[in-house]
Amino acid sequence: MESIIITIDGPAGSGKSTTAKIVAELLGYIYVDSGAMYRAVTLATIRHKCETIEQIIHLLDSLHIELKMSPQGQRTFLNGEDISEEIREPIITSKVSFISSIKEVRTAMVDLQRKIGAKGSIVMDGRDIGTVVFPHAQLKIFMIASIHERAKRRLDQMKSKYSEHISDITEITEQITNRDYADSHREIDPLKPADDAIMLDTTGMSIQEQCDFIVKKAQQLIFIE
Ligand code: CDP
Repeated sequence: MESIIITIDGPAGSGKSTTAKIVAELLGYIYVDSGAMYRAVTLATIRHKCETIEQIIHLLDSLHIELKMSPQGQRTFLNGEDISEEIREPIITSKVSFISSIKEVRTAMVDLQRKIGAKGSIVMDGRDIGTVVFPHAQLKIFMIASIHERAKRRLDQMKSKYSEHISDITEITEQITNRDYADSHREIDPLKPADDAIMLDTTGMSIQEQCDFIVKKAQQLIFIE
């Protein structure tokens, strides 16, 4: 049985990470959340009060980002500190698209992602994984869902995480729309489906259905390889 690379790209709230995690578990693969790496860089730029692109680029050399498995799932570490909760804060979400549009940031993260995925048997989710990071991946999924459904999912996620109610559906819809626009229109490695990606519209689909679809495709490839 061969090991393959599975890439799951798509816009915010399309269900990528929830699905990728379960698919990895079902196949006995490693799940890699590439967005967490861009969020870690964003957190570092805030902590260091970076004001210019030059300062951000300079900071990159001193950052050591790691993703480690723990009983609570995958955790993100920045220079040895567990920052998994902090990188989900709204302040990070509002700044991450800008930080991830910087060429040097992308080069550093893509290198790290390729190193982690070099041995295969991984499911990596993000924006450019099938187009740039692993253009030769055996299975590429591009997940989409209606903006209404994506905003609703994100709101539910936030409600379960934060005790007080911080946003409403209109605000979240606007935030997601803005982030998708920035991610799809940036100059370097924009969000777009790879030519050989399978489009999966998850509007109205359950998580179980999404996972079954991908696992089935993966198993066909694993047994053919
Ligand atoms: O909120 P969501 O889970 O959809 O996003 P994420 O996967 O945590 O990614 C946060 C941000 O990082 C995205 O909006 C992109 O700006 C950036 N990103 C990227 O540029 N390339 C990737 N491969 C992954 C994320």
